[in-house]
Amino acid sequence: MPAFAQSIGLPPQNSAAVALLVERLRVEFPVLRGKPKVAIRDLDISIRPGEILGLVGESGAGKTTLARAILNLPPAPGRITAGVVQFDGVDLLRLSEGELQRIRGRDISMVVPNPRGELNPLVPVGVQLASIAQVHLDKDRHSARAMALEMLQAVQIPDPERRMRAYPHELSGGMAQRVVIAIALMCSPRFIISDDATSGLDVTVQAQILELLRHLVRKQSSAMLFITRDIGITAHFCDRVAVIYRGEIMEIAPRESFFLAPRHPYTMLLLAAFLHNPQLRRAWTPPDASVRANVDTEIGCAYTDRCPRARKICQTTKPLLAERISGHFVRCHFPLERE
Ligand SMILES: Nc1ncnc2c1ncn2[C@@H]1O[C@H](COP(=O)(O)OP(=O)(O)O)[C@@H](O)[C@H]1O
Ligand SMILES: [Mg+2]
Repeated sequence: MPAFAQSIGLPPQNSAAVALLVERLRVEFPVLRGKPKVAIRDLDISIRPGEILGLVGESGAGKTTLARAILNLPPAPGRITAGVVQFDGVDLLRLSEGELQRIRGRDISMVVPNPRGELNPLVPVGVQLASIAQVHLDKDRHSARAMALEMLQAVQIPDPERRMRAYPHELSGGMAQRVVIAIALMCSPRFIISDDATSGLDVTVQAQILELLRHLVRKQSSAMLFITRDIGITAHFCDRVAVIYRGEIMEIAPRESFFLAPRHPYTMLLLAAFLHNPQLRRAWTPPDASVRANVDTEIGCAYTDRCPRARKICQTTKPLLAERISGHFVRCHFPLERE
């Protein structure tokens, strides 16, 4: 039985090989005098222990809303109106606030950008780390401090003894991000969400931090949802890649299949932008985008008005997220055909 389910006295359900299971999740934002805006639409994903799932999509696609909804903390005034978020077999959307608070930061951690904003400027980083171990793991002061030091070593902070006593403003951006990751990993969480957490860092530091995150995820057999606007990073870092557009998964596949044989027109556009390839970009942009009708995303494909392959059926029937070859799913009536 998963330790965390046991600790809150709940029986686990049947999901041995899955760490996180999201089913038919829907998040809506109320709109003044109108239908609510659907930010996450009937979304399904699952992540296995030790697996890193990349989630890519442009700004406003719903990435942060999804991450926060998984923690049962949708951004206000958003509301989760349907679905299941199962972690280790327990539905997080049905837990009490007290039970959730025990899980967040211990079994599930989230790393966000702007590391300094996450740290208390008035408290030395060693004390901040140690307090996590005291609160969540019931450690006494002495062993909490030892754990904090161990964590700073694990995230490869130079001279960790001295850094224990440092205040956040005394650290570089890269080091502050390492401290935030140390805090996130302190309790060996079974599930980690990184929401654009490394995009503000310079490229070398980012590469080091990603390497470190991957190492720790593998070592602890954690599952990870890695959110980024940069599709290029996922090619190196993730086991599977999902593309989100207007709150819907458009394509999801193992990394090799995703990059060797992408199938969704929107994925092609993202790749064209990443490759700085104007021909490819033109090929995947409709010539008459501006004159297309606004499609009702409740019934039609959300990508219709930007899609060069769109036909009548795309406006009237939402395509299912269908499996094309093993593990490679595409939501499109006219996906690229590949051998
Ligand atoms: N606080 C909010 N109030 C109203 N609408 C919001 C709020 N936060 C997000 N949204 C809506 O949800 C959509 C997804 O936003 P978000 O999850 O922040 O996207 P991403 O992280 O992919 O940039 C946005 O297009 C916006 O319409
Ligand atoms: Mg975001």
